[in-house]
Amino acid sequence: MGNGDIGVFGLGTMGSALALNLAEQGFRVAVSNREVEWIGDFVKEAGTLSERIVPCETLPELVAALASPRVVLFMIPSGAPMDAMIEQVAPLLEAGDTIIDAGNADFNDTRRRSAALQARGLHFVGMGVSGGERGARHGPSMMVGGTGHSWQQLRPMAEAIAARYEGSPCVAHVGPDGAGHFVKTVHNGIEYADMQMIAEVYGLLRDGAGQGAAEIGAMFGRWNAGALRSYLIEASAAVLSAVDPASGKAMVDVIEDQAGQKGTGRWTVIEALKLGESASAIEAAVGARGWSSMKETREMAEAVLSGGASEAIVPDETELAEAFEAARILAHAQGFSVMQAASEQFGWGLDLARIAEIWREGCIIRSALLDDLAEALRGSLPHGALVLAPDMASRLGRTVPALRRVVGAAVAAGLPVPAMSASLAWYDSLRQARGTANLIQGQRDFFGMHGFARVGEEGKHHGPWWD
Ligand code: 6PG
Repeated sequence: MGNGDIGVFGLGTMGSALALNLAEQGFRVAVSNREVEWIGDFVKEAGTLSERIVPCETLPELVAALASPRVVLFMIPSGAPMDAMIEQVAPLLEAGDTIIDAGNADFNDTRRRSAALQARGLHFVGMGVSGGERGARHGPSMMVGGTGHSWQQLRPMAEAIAARYEGSPCVAHVGPDGAGHFVKTVHNGIEYADMQMIAEVYGLLRDGAGQGAAEIGAMFGRWNAGALRSYLIEASAAVLSAVDPASGKAMVDVIEDQAGQKGTGRWTVIEALKLGESASAIEAAVGARGWSSMKETREMAEAVLSGGASEAIVPDETELAEAFEAARILAHAQGFSVMQAASEQFGWGLDLARIAEIWREGCIIRSALLDDLAEALRGSLPHGALVLAPDMASRLGRTVPALRRVVGAAVAAGLPVPAMSASLAWYDSLRQARGTANLIQGQRDFFGMHGFARVGEEGKHHGPWWD
């Protein structure tokens, strides 16, 4: 048996960065990779940190290099590759050892794997890691799901390598089995919505007001110096300000308008619907990525589909900023609502305020807003609704009028703002004490005798449609 603190299998971008971060914090890290030739390159890249790195050509070597109880972290593609690695590593481990899946996994898989490994005396951690390569190398935000035992093993290492917000590490044991991967999935769903809404503001200014990339980038730069400060606003300002060395054009103007996706945004929407929730702003963002890839259809449709209005947008920076602020609060509130529903469904006892706290640094959606959300979530939430927290309700009251004007102007100009308008529609649905589902109930009873509740009365009733 060796004296390694942790084994890291998978030396791609994220795995290498995490392994180097661990070594830099003084931990002894055994490393391995499916493509054996990557291991030597990694050790070279580690430089002086290689003193604390134990290169291992095989999984049995990696396991043998670790002190007991062992912790083996996998950073590999999710799905079948993870199941295959579990099958290979589990027979090499002993009761009390922990396997960590640090990739973006479907939490349903994590729950299944946790249960199967628990039956073999092993602990399984599903750990969401956010912050991209730089985050993993210098301080990610991490969402840990697993047993108390595995958290005790992992905690000193996780807290040492995590990003810090005012000294507090951005990592938490959020709950058992799939809780960590679920929370990471919702993080990504919010990430999708935030990115889409920033892109919608960009689209309004580009196509509605004729502004160039640099001008729009400068505006996001100003936003980043104020209340809207966030990593994604900072990233957008940087992307819009960059110039393509090859053509001399704005970099963003030479990038194809077709966005990729690996699945986490979609999972958020699927799970939200399964829980009887609707993360409509996130769904709009996932949908917009889908439509973005239908390039040929859009190229044809631009010429064929008429009915677009052509009113120019007259941008008012303060109004746009307020509209974005409202839409962003609403998209986050949807994400937190989905987590609350999952927590109740699976008995996880998620501490939503703590989750907001560990998202204040290191992760992709880090922003000034998350600190305000953490505070609101610590306070009293009427009906558990973040939008009803006094501070959020008053912020929305101040900023939603601008969202309404911006969405209205976009509609009049024929420009798409699916995520911002979905947020607004959700807000307006919420603030209607009497909505229109009475007619839905009447329709259901008309064609299917499904029955309905009469206002203020117990029991199931039917209408006089067929009398
Ligand atoms: C993060 C990111 C990271 C990655 C996702 C989303 O938190 O560090 O969310 O996990 O960017 O895989 O990627 P897609 O946009 O390709 O779905």
